[in-house]
Amino acid sequence: MSAEKKRVYVTRRIPKPGLDRLTELENCEVEIYDSDEAIPQEVLLEKVKGVNGLLCMLTDNINKDVLDAAGDNLEVVATMSVGFEHIDVETCKERKIRVCNTPNVSTDSVAELTVSLLLLTARRLLDGVAAVKNGEWGKWKPMWLCGIELTGRTVGILGLGRIGYGVARRLKPFGIKQIVYHDVCQVSYADDIGATFVEFDTMARECDIICICCNLTPQTRHRFNKKVFSMMKNEAILINSGRGGVINHDDLFDALKEGQIFAAGLDVTEPEPLPSNHPLVALPNCIILPHMGSNTWDSRNMMSATAGENVVNVFNKKVAVGDVYSC
Ligand code: DGY
Repeated sequence: MSAEKKRVYVTRRIPKPGLDRLTELENCEVEIYDSDEAIPQEVLLEKVKGVNGLLCMLTDNINKDVLDAAGDNLEVVATMSVGFEHIDVETCKERKIRVCNTPNVSTDSVAELTVSLLLLTARRLLDGVAAVKNGEWGKWKPMWLCGIELTGRTVGILGLGRIGYGVARRLKPFGIKQIVYHDVCQVSYADDIGATFVEFDTMARECDIICICCNLTPQTRHRFNKKVFSMMKNEAILINSGRGGVINHDDLFDALKEGQIFAAGLDVTEPEPLPSNHPLVALPNCIILPHMGSNTWDSRNMMSATAGENVVNVFNKKVAVGDVYSC
């Protein structure tokens, strides 16, 4: 007897490995939103009707309306991302719909980007590039474009998960004095890199560099706000490769403008995309990247493959790689 036919909707053009996984599945119909741009919500609501699997992106709002539109056949929502705050996980849980993400496969890519962004920000490298291009490079000056070096600094990591650990491990050889971290709980592998658990306020007060590597949750939302910026060192650098919503951007603007902290490097913002006329964009001490953490072919191919595999594994009643219920 042939396997029951499954229908999967993929909300974007994705790298081939993910589609290969899905099409290897016997008796499976795969439909794709054939665009590099995000699917409009009204199209998504139409397209999900009756599907068994939904392979989505972090830009898709998989809310109750989408889950209702999909109906009783929906078995799995597999997101091609680590973050899953765009999915109504509670409703999925109630309806026994599996929710899977793509952990592990973008860890190196995001950790490398985070360290790059820190170096870019701390050493004012973009100002240097702009100065050369704009003809502002005059004779050598003792106090021109001076930044902050990493050697001897105390680094704080908010969220010592895979990415936070990867960032800390890469920073250690720079001669960092101390690595501290804050998270929902202490983790044993912190010892491998000599990282010490501290309370959030201690981290804010004592660190020269803070890297935000955590998810967006009700607990982390706007964790960096006016009060926290006022506790931070004036020479501090804040890097965010987690989620934009962890920082209150109005308060960050004030803190950077008033010199409460030295600089910020953001790979993620709130909202995304950040409008080009947003006040943060004009600040010389704020470097903003367009959410590029996992932008390597290595990572994107693996993310696609993992998301595809997750759909297949749920259909086949096997354990999926990133089963978010256990998080
Ligand atoms: C993720 O996987 O959640 C990342 O933010 C994508 O770059």
